Amino acid sequence: MNPFHFGKEYIPECFIDREKEYAAIHSGIENGLNLVLIAPRRFGKTWILQKFMKESGFPTLYVDLFGVLTPKDFATQMIQGAYAILKEENPVAFVSKHLRKLAHCVSFSLGLKGVSFSLNPATSDQESLAEALHLPQSLAATLQSRVVVILDEFQEYERILPELPGYIRSVFQKQEGVSYIFSGSRKHMLEKLFFHASGPLYYSAKRIDLGNFLPKEETLLYLEEKFRKSGKPVQTEALEYLYAITRGHPYYVQFVSYEVWNLASGWITKDTIDTAIDTLLHHESYNYDVLLEALGYKHLKRVLSLLASKEREIFHPQVLARWGISSPALLQKILTKLIDYGVVEKLAPGKYEILDPLFAMYVERRFVYNKERKEAEL
Ligand SMILES: Nc1ncnc2c1ncn2[C@@H]1O[C@H](COP(=O)(O)OP(=O)(O)O)[C@@H](O)[C@H]1O
Ligand SMILES: [Mg+2]
Repeated sequence: MNPFHFGKEYIPECFIDREKEYAAIHSGIENGLNLVLIAPRRFGKTWILQKFMKESGFPTLYVDLFGVLTPKDFATQMIQGAYAILKEENPVAFVSKHLRKLAHCVSFSLGLKGVSFSLNPATSDQESLAEALHLPQSLAATLQSRVVVILDEFQEYERILPELPGYIRSVFQKQEGVSYIFSGSRKHMLEKLFFHASGPLYYSAKRIDLGNFLPKEETLLYLEEKFRKSGKPVQTEALEYLYAITRGHPYYVQFVSYEVWNLASGWITKDTIDTAIDTLLHHESYNYDVLLEALGYKHLKRVLSLLASKEREIFHPQVLARWGISSPALLQKILTKLIDYGVVEKLAPGKYEILDPLFAMYVERRFVYNKERKEAEL
C-alpha cells in the first residue's frame, strides 16, 4: 500500500512537524482566545485543524465554508456538528433544548449516516444564523467545557453572506465559553477583516501563520522511513533531490512521493524522481493552463516566467525590459495580486517565489525554456 497521503482527511502517521504552530493553537484556545490561521492553499491548514479536533480534547464544531452554499446551509451544518458532539441520541430532545427559537422550523430524517437535520425553507436567514451562532454557547453550558468553532476557508463568507463576520462578532462578545478559529488562504482579505481598523472582526482574533515549508531534517527522516518500510528504499542523493524539488511544500512532499512510490520497484534513484515529475507535469499541465486563463492578467505569463527564471534582480530595468514588463509598478501590481491568490509568496524585499513547485516547473518548461532557447539561437 502506498504510504503517502494527500487529500482532506488528516492522517496522523503522515503529519510532519508543525509543532510550534500546533502549540500556539492549543495554548491560544486554552487561554480563551479566538484565532485566525493564515496560510497559502495546500500548506496544511485543514490537516492541523483536524489534528486539533481529534487530539486536543476540546469539543469542536468544524464547518468548511467552501462546501456551504447559503446562510441556511451554514446554519444546518452548525446544527449537524453540534448534534454529533453531544452524541445525543434523541434529536427531538436536542432540538427542544438547544434550538428553542427554531424548534418549529427544524426537521430531521434518519438515513444511513444517522440523523440529518434540515431547516424549513420559509425560515429567514437571520433567524437561522442567530440560532446557529447561539448553539456553541448552549453546547458549552451543557458540556461544562470550552467549545471551539472552526470556520475553515473563511474567505468564502463573501459568497455566502457578506455580513457573516458582523453577525459572528455580535455573538461572540457574549459567549464566554466559546472560541473561534478562522482559517483561510486569502491573506490580504483576512488581514483587512481582522487587522484593519475598519474590518468587522478587528482585533478579535490572534493571528497564527502557517507560512513555512516543512523543515528539511524532519521531512527527510519521514520520507526515508516511509519508503524503506514499504519495501522501496531511496538512495540518499535521491532523497535530497526529492526535498530540493518539493522544497518541503506539504502537499507536494506527499503528492510527488506518492507518484514516486507508484513508479518504483526496488531502489529509488534520481531517475525515478525525474520520471515521476514528468508524469505529474503531464497530468497537471491542463489544470495549470486553466489557472493561467482564470487569473487572466495581461502580463501574467511574463511575470511568472520572470519568477521561474534564474533572474535575481527582478525589478532591475534591464531585467524588466528582457521580460517585456513595462514598469516596476506593473510588476508590483501583478505580484500583489498573485500573492493574494496564494500563487506567489514574498520571501524578502525584492525576492518572490512561485509557491507551487510543480507549477514553477511548468512555467519554466513552457515559457522560460522556450524563450532562453530562442535567445540562444539568435
Ligand atoms: N504537517 C504536514 N505533514 C505532512 N504533510 C502535510 C502536512 N500538512 C499537510 N500535508 C499535506 O498537504 C496536503 C494539503 O493539506 P491541507 O491541510 O488540505 O492544506 P490547506 O487546508 O492549507 O489547503 C494534505 O493532504 C497532506 O498531503
Ligand atoms: Mg483546507
